[in-house]
Order: sequence, then structure tokens, then C-alpha cells
Amino acid sequence: MRRILVANPKGGSGKSTLAAHLACWFAWQEDQVLLGDTDRQQSLAHWLKTRPKALPQIRGWEVTPGEPARPPRGTQVAILDTPAGLHGKSLKALLGMVDQVIVPLQTGAFDFWASGEFFDILAESKAVRREQIRVAAVGMRVNPRTSNGRELIPFLARYDIPLVAQLRDATLYRDTIARGMTLFDLSHGRTQLDREQWQPLLDWVTGPTR
Ligand SMILES: Nc1ncnc2c1ncn2[C@@H]1O[C@H](COP(=O)(O)OP(=O)(O)O)[C@@H](O)[C@H]1O
Ligand SMILES: [Mg+2]
Repeated sequence: MRRILVANPKGGSGKSTLAAHLACWFAWQEDQVLLGDTDRQQSLAHWLKTRPKALPQIRGWEVTPGEPARPPRGTQVAILDTPAGLHGKSLKALLGMVDQVIVPLQTGAFDFWASGEFFDILAESKAVRREQIRVAAVGMRVNPRTSNGRELIPFLARYDIPLVAQLRDATLYRDTIARGMTLFDLSHGRTQLDREQWQPLLDWVTGPTR
């Protein structure tokens, strides 16, 4: 089973959006997907309820950091969304449950401060140091016409974390989520550019777990 944590203590960095998309992509690969929502706002639990029944289904999973949680049998992929401000014991407990961590981040001083601190905390984790957990960063709402995409590369160069994908800012991300869907539920024709942007992240995610 693949177990993926989507985390960044900065609110609004794109965690729930990324977690929903990833879950949806796996569901389209016919994998049994669990989407855990450790956020008290339960954004993804609400999203799952609005998901049209005709689309590949994703199961919800209630997880409380620090309390034992075993995914049901047959689960192939478990994705965990996390709240803003995740740190300390809760973070440690969740790191103990996964083998991959994806950190979505936007550009900007506030985002860089919060994400930089988070990368330092991850780097101190034994499981990360022993490479039992793989960590990757994803640029969110990157606009190639401005400098914001370019800022991510020198920022991440300070940390030993690969920037595996850069996803554009597109209203389609909001519009699909509002309907219980993601871009992966739309035709390839409408989403070709976005699928291309996702591909290196999907390659990283489906790579070896250990
Ligand atoms: N690539 C994107 N393009 C446009 N809007 C996005 C994109 N990614 C996220 N958003 C929007 O940014 C806001 C914050 O995203 P969200 O996933 O809720 O972040 P978090 O879960 O980290 O708080 C939401 O309104 C979401 O629709
Ligand atoms: Mg969220």
C-alpha cells in the first residue's frame, strides 16, 4: 500500500486541492483509494459527499493524529490531507503512518517562511533522514508569465527537496472541486496542459516507496 501525506503548515497552500486531485487520479487508475481528512474543517469529507456517483469512487477515512488508524483491507493508496499549522506530536504521529510526503507551496515571503521552517522540521525526522520517507515539493498556482515560478527553484535549492512539479493557477481547479470533481474527471482534451504539468508528480508518486 502506498501512503501519502499532503502537508504544509501554511493555510491556503493548496493541500486539499492537491490531495483531492491525487486521490482522483488513482481512482481513475482503478486503485482502491482512501482519502483521509485530518483537518477539523473536513473540507475533503464535504467534497467526497458532493462527488457524483457515476465517477470513480474514493472512500473517506477518518484519521485522528496519534490514534491508531488502519486502512481497510484491499486499500492500495491512502492519501492524507492535513490542516494548517500542523506541527509537533500530530505531525510526528502522521509521519509515522506514511512513506511519502508532498508539500504544496506557493511563492511569496509568507509561504517561503512557513514552508522553509517545515522543511527544516522534516529534515530532522529520523524517517526522512533514513530515507524511509520520501519528500517532494510541488509549486501551486504558478504563473509562468510572472517571476513566481522562477523564485521556487532558488528557494528550494536551500533544502534537499526536489521540486517535482509546478501547477498553474487555473479557475478550473476551483470549479471542478466545487462540483465534487477534479481536473482528472474531465476529458483529456480540456485538460491536456494540466495533465502534462501533473505527469512528473505522478511519476514521482508512483515510484518506489522505499
Ligand atoms: N492550481 C490552482 N489554481 C487555482 N486555484 C487554486 C489552485 N490550487 C488551489 N487553488 C485554490 O486556492 C485556495 C486554497 O487551496 P486549498 O487546497 O484549500 O489549500 P489548503 O488546503 O492548503 O488550505 C482554494 O480556494 C483553491 O481553490
Ligand atoms: Mg485544506
